[in-house]
Amino acid sequence: MDFELKTLTPARICAEKCDALIVLVGEAAASGSDAVTTLAAGAIKSGDFESKAGKLLSAYRPQDISATRVLLAGAGDGSTKSIRTAVHAAMAALKSTNVRRVLLSLVGLPKADHESVRAAVLACADACYVYSTTKSKPVEQKLQRVVLVVSALASSRAGFDKGVGLSKGLALTREWANRPANHATPTLLGQAAKELGKLPGIKVEVLGPREVSKLGMGSFMAVARGSEEPLRFIVLRYDGGTKTEAPVVLIGKGITFDTGGISIKPAAEMDEMKYDMGGAASVLGTFRALAELQPALNVIGLIPACENMPDGRAIKPGDVVTSMSGQTIEILNTDAEGRLVLCDALTYAERFKPRAVVDIATLTGACVIALGGVRSGLFSSDDALAQSLAAAGDSSMDLCWRMPLDDEYADGLKTHFADVANVAGRAGGAITAAKFLQRFAGKFPWAHLDIAGTAWKSGAAKGSTGRPVPLLVDFLLGQVQPARPVPKKRVSSRA
Ligand code: BES
Ligand code: MN
Ligand code: ZN
Repeated sequence: MDFELKTLTPARICAEKCDALIVLVGEAAASGSDAVTTLAAGAIKSGDFESKAGKLLSAYRPQDISATRVLLAGAGDGSTKSIRTAVHAAMAALKSTNVRRVLLSLVGLPKADHESVRAAVLACADACYVYSTTKSKPVEQKLQRVVLVVSALASSRAGFDKGVGLSKGLALTREWANRPANHATPTLLGQAAKELGKLPGIKVEVLGPREVSKLGMGSFMAVARGSEEPLRFIVLRYDGGTKTEAPVVLIGKGITFDTGGISIKPAAEMDEMKYDMGGAASVLGTFRALAELQPALNVIGLIPACENMPDGRAIKPGDVVTSMSGQTIEILNTDAEGRLVLCDALTYAERFKPRAVVDIATLTGACVIALGGVRSGLFSSDDALAQSLAAAGDSSMDLCWRMPLDDEYADGLKTHFADVANVAGRAGGAITAAKFLQRFAGKFPWAHLDIAGTAWKSGAAKGSTGRPVPLLVDFLLGQVQPARPVPKKRVSSRA
Protein backbone atom coordinates (compact mmCIF):
# COMPACT_ATOMS: atom_id res chain seq x y z
CA MET A 1 0.00 0.00 0.00
CA ASP A 2 1.20 3.48 -0.86
CA PHE A 3 0.82 6.63 1.19
CA GLU A 4 0.75 10.18 -0.08
CA LEU A 5 0.58 13.48 1.78
CA LYS A 6 -1.35 16.41 0.32
CA THR A 7 -2.85 19.75 1.21
CA LEU A 8 -6.33 20.49 -0.09
CA THR A 9 -8.88 23.17 0.67
CA PRO A 10 -12.28 21.96 1.95
CA ALA A 11 -13.76 22.74 -1.47
CA ARG A 12 -11.11 20.62 -3.21
CA ILE A 13 -11.69 17.75 -0.78
CA CYS A 14 -15.33 17.70 -1.89
CA ALA A 15 -14.29 17.70 -5.55
CA GLU A 16 -11.58 15.02 -5.28
CA LYS A 17 -12.50 11.69 -6.90
CA CYS A 18 -11.81 8.64 -4.71
CA ASP A 19 -13.47 5.39 -3.65
CA ALA A 20 -13.81 6.49 -0.06
CA LEU A 21 -13.33 9.73 1.79
CA ILE A 22 -12.69 9.34 5.52
CA VAL A 23 -13.28 12.54 7.42
CA LEU A 24 -11.95 12.72 10.97
CA VAL A 25 -14.38 14.78 13.01
CA GLY A 26 -13.16 16.17 16.33
CA GLU A 27 -15.28 17.36 19.25
CA ALA A 28 -14.75 20.96 18.26
CA ALA A 29 -16.16 20.41 14.77
CA ALA A 30 -14.82 22.69 12.09
CA SER A 31 -17.04 25.40 10.69
CA GLY A 32 -17.44 26.01 6.98
CA SER A 33 -19.95 25.95 4.18
CA ASP A 34 -18.46 23.16 2.04
CA ALA A 35 -20.46 19.96 1.52
CA VAL A 36 -18.33 17.75 3.81
CA THR A 37 -18.38 20.12 6.77
CA THR A 38 -22.11 20.71 6.28
CA LEU A 39 -22.72 16.96 6.17
CA ALA A 40 -20.79 16.42 9.43
CA ALA A 41 -22.44 19.35 11.21
CA GLY A 42 -25.91 18.20 10.12
CA ALA A 43 -25.30 14.61 11.25
CA ILE A 44 -24.15 15.76 14.68
CA LYS A 45 -27.04 18.23 15.04
CA SER A 46 -29.65 15.60 14.20
CA GLY A 47 -28.12 13.15 16.67
CA ASP A 48 -27.25 10.60 13.97
CA PHE A 49 -23.52 10.90 14.58
CA GLU A 50 -21.26 11.57 17.53
CA SER A 51 -17.70 12.85 17.40
CA LYS A 52 -16.63 10.37 20.12
CA ALA A 53 -13.51 8.47 19.05
CA GLY A 54 -14.44 5.36 17.10
CA LYS A 55 -17.99 6.39 16.12
CA LEU A 56 -18.79 6.07 12.41
CA LEU A 57 -21.42 7.21 9.95
CA SER A 58 -21.23 6.34 6.28
CA ALA A 59 -22.91 7.86 3.25
CA TYR A 60 -23.07 6.62 -0.35
CA ARG A 61 -22.73 9.12 -3.20
CA PRO A 62 -23.67 12.12 -1.05
CA GLN A 63 -24.61 15.34 -2.77
CA ASP A 64 -21.89 17.71 -3.97
CA ILE A 65 -19.11 15.31 -2.97
CA SER A 66 -17.14 13.42 -5.64
CA ALA A 67 -16.12 10.51 -3.40
CA THR A 68 -18.18 7.34 -3.87
CA ARG A 69 -18.44 6.82 -0.11
CA VAL A 70 -17.98 9.19 2.76
CA LEU A 71 -17.12 7.92 6.19
CA LEU A 72 -17.45 10.36 9.05
CA ALA A 73 -15.15 9.09 11.80
CA GLY A 74 -15.38 10.57 15.29
CA ALA A 75 -11.91 11.58 16.52
CA GLY A 76 -12.92 12.82 19.98
CA ASP A 77 -10.38 15.16 21.54
CA GLY A 78 -8.09 14.84 18.51
CA SER A 79 -5.30 13.21 20.57
CA THR A 80 -3.03 10.71 18.85
CA LYS A 81 -4.82 7.93 20.72
CA SER A 82 -8.24 9.10 19.49
CA ILE A 83 -6.91 9.45 15.94
CA ARG A 84 -5.64 5.88 16.12
CA THR A 85 -9.05 4.64 17.34
CA ALA A 86 -10.87 6.62 14.62
CA VAL A 87 -8.68 5.47 11.74
CA HIS A 88 -8.77 1.85 12.93
CA ALA A 89 -12.59 1.93 13.05
CA ALA A 90 -12.89 3.54 9.62
CA MET A 91 -10.39 1.22 7.93
CA ALA A 92 -12.03 -1.83 9.52
CA ALA A 93 -15.35 -0.69 8.04
CA LEU A 94 -13.73 -0.54 4.60
CA LYS A 95 -12.13 -3.97 4.89
CA SER A 96 -13.54 -6.49 2.42
CA THR A 97 -14.97 -3.71 0.23
CA ASN A 98 -13.57 -2.98 -3.22
CA VAL A 99 -12.20 0.39 -2.20
CA ARG A 100 -8.84 1.04 -3.91
CA ARG A 101 -8.08 4.68 -3.27
CA VAL A 102 -8.87 6.36 0.04
CA LEU A 103 -8.68 10.01 0.96
CA LEU A 104 -8.19 10.51 4.70
CA SER A 105 -8.81 14.05 5.84
CA LEU A 106 -7.33 15.46 9.04
CA VAL A 107 -8.25 18.98 8.03
CA GLY A 108 -11.15 19.30 10.46
CA LEU A 109 -9.11 18.45 13.56
CA PRO A 110 -8.30 21.27 15.97
CA LYS A 111 -4.59 20.45 15.91
CA ALA A 112 -3.10 18.26 13.21
CA ASP A 113 0.63 18.20 13.92
CA HIS A 114 3.28 15.71 12.89
CA GLU A 115 2.33 13.36 15.75
CA SER A 116 -1.27 13.19 14.49
CA VAL A 117 -0.13 12.46 10.96
CA ARG A 118 2.19 9.70 12.14
CA ALA A 119 -0.61 8.16 14.22
CA ALA A 120 -2.95 8.22 11.21
CA VAL A 121 -0.42 6.60 8.86
CA LEU A 122 0.42 3.87 11.38
CA ALA A 123 -3.21 3.10 12.17
CA CYS A 124 -3.94 2.76 8.43
CA ALA A 125 -1.02 0.43 7.85
CA ASP A 126 -1.90 -1.59 10.94
CA ALA A 127 -5.55 -2.02 9.97
CA CYS A 128 -4.64 -3.12 6.45
CA TYR A 129 -1.98 -5.68 7.35
CA VAL A 130 -2.79 -9.23 6.27
CA TYR A 131 -0.61 -12.28 6.65
CA SER A 132 -0.57 -14.46 3.56
CA THR A 133 2.86 -16.13 3.28
CA THR A 134 1.70 -19.67 4.00
CA LYS A 135 -1.67 -19.49 2.23
CA SER A 136 -1.89 -21.28 -1.11
CA LYS A 137 -3.34 -18.14 -2.71
CA PRO A 138 -2.10 -14.72 -1.65
CA VAL A 139 -4.83 -12.70 0.05
CA GLU A 140 -5.87 -10.02 -2.43
CA GLN A 141 -5.17 -6.47 -1.25
CA LYS A 142 -7.69 -4.17 -2.93
CA LEU A 143 -6.63 -1.01 -1.14
CA GLN A 144 -3.76 0.51 -3.11
CA ARG A 145 -3.40 4.07 -1.98
CA VAL A 146 -4.16 6.24 1.02
CA VAL A 147 -3.91 9.98 0.51
CA LEU A 148 -3.61 11.92 3.77
CA VAL A 149 -5.04 15.38 3.54
CA VAL A 150 -3.76 18.05 5.91
CA SER A 151 -4.03 21.82 5.99
CA ALA A 152 -0.27 22.50 6.20
CA LEU A 153 2.47 20.37 4.72
CA ALA A 154 5.35 21.90 6.69
CA SER A 155 4.10 20.71 10.08
CA SER A 156 3.10 17.28 8.77
CA ARG A 157 5.95 16.10 6.57
CA ALA A 158 8.26 14.82 9.34
CA GLY A 159 5.46 12.85 10.99
CA PHE A 160 4.37 11.44 7.67
CA ASP A 161 7.88 10.23 6.78
CA LYS A 162 8.36 8.75 10.24
CA GLY A 163 5.03 6.96 10.03
CA VAL A 164 5.75 5.49 6.59
CA GLY A 165 9.28 4.38 7.61
CA LEU A 166 8.04 2.86 10.81
CA SER A 167 5.17 1.07 9.07
CA LYS A 168 7.70 -0.77 6.87
CA GLY A 169 9.58 -1.92 9.95
CA LEU A 170 6.38 -3.00 11.67
CA ALA A 171 5.25 -5.00 8.65
CA LEU A 172 8.58 -6.87 8.54
CA THR A 173 8.41 -7.65 12.26
CA ARG A 174 4.84 -8.93 12.01
CA GLU A 175 5.63 -10.98 8.95
CA TRP A 176 8.53 -12.85 10.56
CA ALA A 177 6.88 -13.25 13.95
CA ASN A 178 3.73 -14.65 12.31
CA ARG A 179 5.52 -17.19 10.18
CA PRO A 180 5.27 -20.74 11.50
CA ALA A 181 8.50 -22.15 12.91
CA ASN A 182 9.11 -24.38 9.86
CA HIS A 183 9.04 -21.24 7.69
CA ALA A 184 11.13 -19.16 10.10
CA THR A 185 14.09 -21.31 11.10
CA PRO A 186 17.32 -19.75 12.43
CA THR A 187 18.75 -20.18 8.91
CA LEU A 188 15.80 -18.34 7.33
CA LEU A 189 16.06 -15.56 9.92
CA GLY A 190 19.71 -15.21 8.97
CA GLN A 191 18.71 -14.91 5.33
CA ALA A 192 16.09 -12.28 6.17
CA ALA A 193 18.79 -10.30 7.97
CA LYS A 194 21.11 -10.66 4.95
CA GLU A 195 18.35 -9.15 2.80
CA LEU A 196 18.35 -6.11 5.10
CA GLY A 197 22.08 -5.85 4.46
CA LYS A 198 21.25 -4.70 0.93
CA LEU A 199 19.63 -1.52 2.26
CA PRO A 200 21.60 1.74 2.62
CA GLY A 201 23.73 1.98 5.76
CA ILE A 202 23.19 -1.64 6.86
CA LYS A 203 25.75 -4.43 7.04
CA VAL A 204 25.01 -7.97 8.19
CA GLU A 205 27.12 -10.89 9.29
CA VAL A 206 25.65 -14.30 10.14
CA LEU A 207 27.67 -16.70 12.31
CA GLY A 208 27.05 -20.46 12.37
CA PRO A 209 27.80 -23.22 14.92
CA ARG A 210 31.55 -23.28 14.23
CA GLU A 211 32.11 -19.56 14.81
CA VAL A 212 29.82 -19.53 17.84
CA SER A 213 31.74 -22.43 19.34
CA LYS A 214 35.02 -20.55 18.78
CA LEU A 215 33.56 -17.57 20.64
CA GLY A 216 32.85 -19.87 23.58
CA MET A 217 29.11 -19.26 23.75
CA GLY A 218 28.54 -22.40 25.82
CA SER A 219 25.18 -21.28 27.16
CA PHE A 220 23.69 -20.42 23.76
CA MET A 221 25.04 -23.67 22.28
CA ALA A 222 23.52 -25.67 25.15
CA VAL A 223 20.01 -24.54 24.14
CA ALA A 224 20.59 -25.27 20.45
CA ARG A 225 21.89 -28.82 21.12
CA GLY A 226 18.46 -30.44 21.10
CA SER A 227 17.56 -29.32 17.60
CA GLU A 228 18.40 -30.54 14.10
CA GLU A 229 18.26 -26.93 12.92
CA PRO A 230 21.69 -25.30 13.18
CA LEU A 231 21.88 -22.14 15.29
CA ARG A 232 22.62 -18.71 13.88
CA PHE A 233 24.13 -15.66 15.55
CA ILE A 234 23.12 -12.62 13.54
CA VAL A 235 25.05 -9.34 13.75
CA LEU A 236 23.50 -6.28 12.10
CA ARG A 237 25.13 -2.85 11.92
CA TYR A 238 23.55 0.41 11.00
CA ASP A 239 26.21 3.07 10.49
CA GLY A 240 24.56 6.46 10.44
CA GLY A 241 26.87 8.24 12.87
CA THR A 242 30.55 9.06 12.87
CA LYS A 243 33.07 6.22 13.16
CA THR A 244 34.08 7.13 16.71
CA GLU A 245 30.54 7.36 18.07
CA ALA A 246 29.66 4.57 20.53
CA PRO A 247 26.71 2.51 19.24
CA VAL A 248 23.45 1.48 20.85
CA VAL A 249 23.18 -2.32 20.86
CA LEU A 250 19.81 -4.06 20.49
CA ILE A 251 19.65 -7.77 21.34
CA GLY A 252 16.60 -9.79 20.27
CA LYS A 253 15.70 -13.22 21.65
CA GLY A 254 15.46 -15.47 18.59
CA ILE A 255 14.01 -18.76 19.80
CA THR A 256 12.26 -19.79 16.59
CA PHE A 257 10.31 -22.42 18.50
CA ASP A 258 10.17 -23.06 22.24
CA THR A 259 8.91 -26.54 23.18
CA GLY A 260 10.44 -26.07 26.62
CA GLY A 261 13.04 -28.76 25.84
CA ILE A 262 13.22 -31.68 28.31
CA SER A 263 11.20 -29.49 30.76
CA ILE A 264 8.55 -29.74 28.04
CA LYS A 265 5.55 -27.39 27.89
CA PRO A 266 1.92 -28.61 27.93
CA ALA A 267 0.37 -29.19 24.49
CA ALA A 268 -2.35 -26.55 24.71
CA GLU A 269 -1.42 -23.41 22.79
CA MET A 270 2.13 -24.59 22.30
CA ASP A 271 1.82 -23.36 18.70
CA GLU A 272 2.11 -19.83 20.07
CA MET A 273 5.75 -20.52 20.91
CA LYS A 274 6.51 -19.79 17.25
CA TYR A 275 6.39 -16.15 18.41
CA ASP A 276 9.29 -16.75 20.77
CA MET A 277 11.50 -14.94 18.27
CA GLY A 278 9.39 -11.78 18.63
CA GLY A 279 12.38 -9.94 20.10
CA ALA A 280 14.52 -10.93 17.12
CA ALA A 281 11.75 -9.89 14.72
CA SER A 282 11.53 -6.50 16.44
CA VAL A 283 15.27 -5.98 15.95
CA LEU A 284 14.94 -6.81 12.23
CA GLY A 285 11.95 -4.45 11.92
CA THR A 286 13.81 -1.68 13.72
CA PHE A 287 16.70 -2.00 11.26
CA ARG A 288 14.23 -1.88 8.38
CA ALA A 289 12.89 1.39 9.78
CA LEU A 290 16.43 2.75 10.33
CA ALA A 291 17.18 2.12 6.66
CA GLU A 292 14.16 4.28 5.77
CA LEU A 293 14.75 7.05 8.29
CA GLN A 294 18.57 7.25 8.10
CA PRO A 295 19.14 8.86 11.52
CA ALA A 296 22.66 10.03 12.43
CA LEU A 297 23.67 7.33 14.92
CA ASN A 298 25.28 3.91 15.09
CA VAL A 299 23.24 0.85 16.03
CA ILE A 300 24.23 -2.79 16.39
CA GLY A 301 21.65 -5.59 16.35
CA LEU A 302 22.45 -9.00 17.83
CA ILE A 303 20.19 -12.04 17.40
CA PRO A 304 20.98 -15.40 18.96
CA ALA A 305 18.63 -17.70 17.00
CA CYS A 306 17.90 -21.38 17.63
CA GLU A 307 15.13 -23.85 18.47
CA ASN A 308 14.51 -25.21 21.98
CA MET A 309 13.72 -28.93 21.46
CA PRO A 310 13.71 -32.15 23.51
CA ASP A 311 16.10 -34.75 22.09
CA GLY A 312 18.65 -37.37 23.04
CA ARG A 313 21.30 -34.70 22.81
CA ALA A 314 19.30 -31.97 24.52
CA ILE A 315 20.42 -30.36 27.77
CA LYS A 316 18.89 -31.93 30.90
CA PRO A 317 17.77 -30.31 34.14
CA GLY A 318 20.79 -30.13 36.40
CA ASP A 319 23.32 -29.81 33.59
CA VAL A 320 25.98 -27.16 34.16
CA VAL A 321 27.31 -25.13 31.21
CA THR A 322 29.95 -22.42 30.88
CA SER A 323 28.81 -19.14 29.35
CA MET A 324 30.98 -16.91 27.17
CA SER A 325 31.54 -14.68 30.23
CA GLY A 326 33.15 -17.61 32.04
CA GLN A 327 30.31 -17.83 34.56
CA THR A 328 28.94 -21.37 34.99
CA ILE A 329 25.18 -21.88 34.90
CA GLU A 330 23.14 -24.73 36.36
CA ILE A 331 20.19 -25.32 34.04
CA LEU A 332 17.46 -26.34 36.47
CA ASN A 333 14.70 -25.80 33.93
CA THR A 334 15.36 -26.15 30.20
CA ASP A 335 12.26 -24.01 29.52
CA ALA A 336 14.08 -20.97 30.89
CA GLU A 337 16.12 -20.93 27.66
CA GLY A 338 15.71 -17.30 26.63
CA ARG A 339 18.06 -16.02 29.31
CA LEU A 340 20.59 -18.71 28.31
CA VAL A 341 20.87 -17.43 24.75
CA LEU A 342 20.69 -13.76 25.76
CA CYS A 343 23.49 -13.94 28.35
CA ASP A 344 26.07 -14.88 25.70
CA ALA A 345 24.81 -12.13 23.38
CA LEU A 346 25.21 -9.65 26.25
CA THR A 347 28.82 -10.74 26.70
CA TYR A 348 29.40 -10.46 22.95
CA ALA A 349 28.02 -6.88 23.09
CA GLU A 350 30.97 -5.77 25.27
CA ARG A 351 33.26 -5.62 22.23
CA PHE A 352 31.32 -2.67 20.81
CA LYS A 353 31.93 -0.51 23.91
CA PRO A 354 28.28 0.45 23.61
CA ARG A 355 26.58 3.60 24.85
CA ALA A 356 23.64 1.43 25.88
CA VAL A 357 22.42 -2.13 25.41
CA VAL A 358 18.72 -2.98 25.25
CA ASP A 359 17.62 -6.60 25.06
CA ILE A 360 14.13 -7.44 23.84
CA ALA A 361 12.65 -10.82 24.69
CA THR A 362 9.45 -12.81 25.04
CA LEU A 363 11.07 -13.94 28.25
CA THR A 364 8.52 -14.93 30.89
CA GLY A 365 4.92 -16.00 31.34
CA ALA A 366 5.20 -14.17 34.68
CA CYS A 367 5.44 -10.85 32.82
CA VAL A 368 2.18 -11.65 31.02
CA ILE A 369 0.56 -12.21 34.43
CA ALA A 370 2.03 -8.99 35.83
CA LEU A 371 1.32 -6.53 33.00
CA GLY A 372 -0.95 -8.33 30.51
CA GLY A 373 -0.92 -7.17 26.91
CA VAL A 374 -0.98 -3.44 27.59
CA ARG A 375 2.55 -2.62 28.71
CA SER A 376 5.88 -4.35 28.15
CA GLY A 377 8.03 -4.91 31.23
CA LEU A 378 11.00 -2.54 31.46
CA PHE A 379 13.95 -3.43 33.66
CA SER A 380 17.04 -1.28 34.02
CA SER A 381 19.63 -0.38 36.58
CA ASP A 382 20.29 2.88 34.73
CA ASP A 383 17.73 5.58 35.54
CA ALA A 384 18.49 7.79 32.54
CA LEU A 385 18.20 4.85 30.11
CA ALA A 386 14.99 3.68 31.78
CA GLN A 387 13.53 7.16 31.48
CA SER A 388 14.42 7.46 27.79
CA LEU A 389 12.80 4.11 27.04
CA ALA A 390 9.66 4.89 29.05
CA ALA A 391 9.35 8.27 27.29
CA ALA A 392 9.77 6.60 23.90
CA GLY A 393 6.99 4.18 24.87
CA ASP A 394 4.71 7.09 25.71
CA SER A 395 5.43 9.14 22.59
CA SER A 396 4.96 6.13 20.30
CA MET A 397 1.88 4.78 22.13
CA ASP A 398 3.84 1.54 22.63
CA LEU A 399 3.79 1.55 26.40
CA CYS A 400 6.09 -0.08 28.94
CA TRP A 401 6.30 -0.09 32.74
CA ARG A 402 9.42 -0.07 34.85
CA MET A 403 9.84 -3.01 37.21
CA PRO A 404 12.17 -3.31 40.23
CA LEU A 405 15.60 -4.94 40.31
CA ASP A 406 16.38 -5.15 44.04
CA ASP A 407 19.28 -7.51 44.71
CA GLU A 408 17.14 -9.66 47.02
CA TYR A 409 15.30 -10.87 43.91
CA ALA A 410 18.50 -12.69 42.90
CA ASP A 411 18.63 -14.80 46.08
CA GLY A 412 16.73 -17.68 44.49
CA LEU A 413 19.30 -17.97 41.69
CA LYS A 414 21.95 -19.25 44.14
CA THR A 415 23.06 -22.86 43.78
CA HIS A 416 25.73 -25.18 45.20
CA PHE A 417 26.67 -26.54 41.79
CA ALA A 418 27.46 -23.50 39.62
CA ASP A 419 27.93 -19.73 39.79
CA VAL A 420 24.23 -19.21 39.15
CA ALA A 421 21.06 -21.20 38.43
CA ASN A 422 18.83 -20.33 35.49
CA VAL A 423 15.56 -20.26 37.48
CA ALA A 424 14.46 -19.12 40.92
CA GLY A 425 10.96 -20.43 41.56
CA ARG A 426 7.62 -18.95 40.56
CA ALA A 427 7.51 -15.81 42.70
CA GLY A 428 8.50 -12.64 40.83
CA GLY A 429 9.43 -14.70 37.77
CA ALA A 430 9.82 -11.75 35.39
CA ILE A 431 12.14 -10.00 37.83
CA THR A 432 14.31 -13.01 38.68
CA ALA A 433 14.79 -13.56 34.93
CA ALA A 434 15.96 -9.95 34.61
CA LYS A 435 18.28 -10.42 37.62
CA PHE A 436 19.86 -13.37 35.82
CA LEU A 437 20.51 -11.20 32.73
CA GLN A 438 21.86 -8.34 34.82
CA ARG A 439 24.81 -10.53 35.89
CA PHE A 440 26.02 -10.43 32.28
CA ALA A 441 25.41 -6.72 31.71
CA GLY A 442 27.85 -5.13 34.14
CA LYS A 443 30.03 -3.38 31.58
CA PHE A 444 27.52 -0.96 30.00
CA PRO A 445 24.23 0.82 30.70
CA TRP A 446 21.64 -1.90 30.15
CA ALA A 447 17.89 -2.31 29.89
CA HIS A 448 15.69 -5.33 29.29
CA LEU A 449 12.21 -5.32 27.73
CA ASP A 450 10.04 -8.36 28.49
CA ILE A 451 7.55 -8.40 25.61
CA ALA A 452 5.94 -11.80 26.33
CA GLY A 453 2.55 -10.11 26.79
CA THR A 454 2.77 -7.40 24.14
CA ALA A 455 4.46 -8.95 21.09
CA TRP A 456 1.42 -10.91 20.02
CA LYS A 457 -2.28 -11.41 20.59
CA SER A 458 -4.09 -14.69 21.23
CA GLY A 459 -7.74 -15.42 20.43
CA ALA A 460 -9.71 -14.09 17.47
CA ALA A 461 -7.14 -11.42 16.57
CA LYS A 462 -4.28 -13.94 16.92
CA GLY A 463 -1.03 -12.67 15.51
CA SER A 464 2.02 -10.50 15.93
CA THR A 465 1.51 -6.89 17.02
CA GLY A 466 4.88 -5.63 15.79
CA ARG A 467 5.63 -4.27 19.26
CA PRO A 468 7.97 -2.88 20.53
CA VAL A 469 9.24 -1.53 17.17
CA PRO A 470 7.55 1.89 17.65
CA LEU A 471 9.13 2.23 21.10
CA LEU A 472 12.58 1.20 19.87
CA VAL A 473 12.51 3.54 16.88
CA ASP A 474 11.44 6.53 18.99
CA PHE A 475 14.11 5.65 21.54
CA LEU A 476 16.79 5.50 18.84
CA LEU A 477 15.68 8.74 17.18
CA GLY A 478 15.93 10.34 20.63
CA GLN A 479 19.54 9.15 20.87
CA VAL A 480 20.63 11.22 17.87
CA GLN A 481 22.95 13.84 19.26
CA PRO A 482 22.10 17.35 18.15
CA ALA A 483 24.63 18.62 15.63
CA ARG A 484 27.40 20.33 17.56
CA PRO A 485 27.46 24.09 16.96
CA VAL A 486 30.50 25.24 15.04
CA PRO A 487 32.91 26.49 17.72
CA LYS A 488 33.48 30.22 17.68
CA LYS A 489 36.98 31.27 16.76
CA ARG A 490 38.90 31.46 19.99
CA VAL A 491 41.31 34.27 20.49
CA SER A 492 44.49 32.44 21.22
CA SER A 493 46.29 33.52 24.35
CA ARG A 494 49.51 32.31 22.89
CA ALA A 495 51.09 34.39 20.26
N1 BES B 1 9.08 -18.23 25.88
C1 BES B 1 8.74 -18.45 27.23
C2 BES B 1 8.02 -17.29 27.87
C3 BES B 1 6.60 -17.07 27.44
C4 BES B 1 5.58 -17.75 28.05
C5 BES B 1 6.32 -16.14 26.48
C6 BES B 1 4.28 -17.50 27.68
C7 BES B 1 5.02 -15.92 26.11
C8 BES B 1 4.00 -16.59 26.71
C9 BES B 1 10.01 -18.71 28.05
O1 BES B 1 11.05 -19.32 27.38
C10 BES B 1 9.61 -19.61 29.17
O2 BES B 1 9.24 -20.70 28.90
N2 BES B 1 9.69 -19.11 30.39
C11 BES B 1 9.32 -19.86 31.54
C12 BES B 1 10.34 -19.60 32.61
C13 BES B 1 10.22 -20.51 33.78
C14 BES B 1 10.61 -21.91 33.39
C15 BES B 1 11.09 -19.99 34.88
C16 BES B 1 7.94 -19.41 31.96
O3 BES B 1 7.64 -18.22 31.88
O4 BES B 1 7.15 -20.25 32.35
MN1 MN C 1 10.91 -21.45 27.44
ZN1 ZN D 1 11.12 -19.04 25.36
